[in-house]
Amino acid sequence: MTAPAGALEAGDPNAGLAPVIAIDGPTASGKGEIAQRVAARLGWHYLDSGALYRLTALAALRAGAALDDEATIAALARALPVRFSGERVELAGEDVSKDIRAPEVGGAASRIATMAALRAALSALQQGFRQPPGLVADGRDMGTVVFPDALIKVFLTASPECRAERRHKQLIAKGFSATLPSLLRELRERDARDSNRAHAPLRPAQGALVVNSTHLTIEEVVDRIVREYRRRDG
Ligand code: DC
Repeated sequence: MTAPAGALEAGDPNAGLAPVIAIDGPTASGKGEIAQRVAARLGWHYLDSGALYRLTALAALRAGAALDDEATIAALARALPVRFSGERVELAGEDVSKDIRAPEVGGAASRIATMAALRAALSALQQGFRQPPGLVADGRDMGTVVFPDALIKVFLTASPECRAERRHKQLIAKGFSATLPSLLRELRERDARDSNRAHAPLRPAQGALVVNSTHLTIEEVVDRIVREYRRRDG
């Protein structure tokens, strides 16, 4: 999570009624980059909720926990020592920004994200990041579950091929090796898992602004969301 000034940690989940812009969508839809730019334009905080699932998965893998041990994984999430500072994501003070992006951590995150007890723990944590002057949160269930009263809900999509290409570029830039066909296969599997799970499946919130970014630039999408905010804010 980045803050308008300095780092931010979760506070009281009931403390804030700061406005929220919720941006949900499938993996590699560009929502992270777009949400960060919207937050920067408005001077608001930014929350990457997927990072919390990834951090919990990393903590579980490091602790040698079984990925189907719901009680242990939910307990790890309840005590997650996370801090966001700009681009830096810290777990107990250690910079794990790169570790949480490893494909195996993403896969583990998607698997544990099916657990109701874990989702409840992380929802409370996410709500604690709602702090003035406002929060732009991206994920899968920001508009449907975590911030149902969000001022604006956006559902961002793009074709699987376009998303696989974007993810390929990101991974190569970060020094991971990856091939396009295997990424496309994993992405389809991840989509199916995220969309078909029983708890908080990936779907557009009611009233969501659905944006297909396949043929749009990042700036065009950002402009659309900021325009929508200014329109509603009067
Ligand atoms: O957005 P991401 O790829 O970093 O998210 C990693 C996994 O976490 C994703 O497969 C599903 C899960 N996730 C979720 O279930 N709900 C969220 N709000 C964010 C992420």
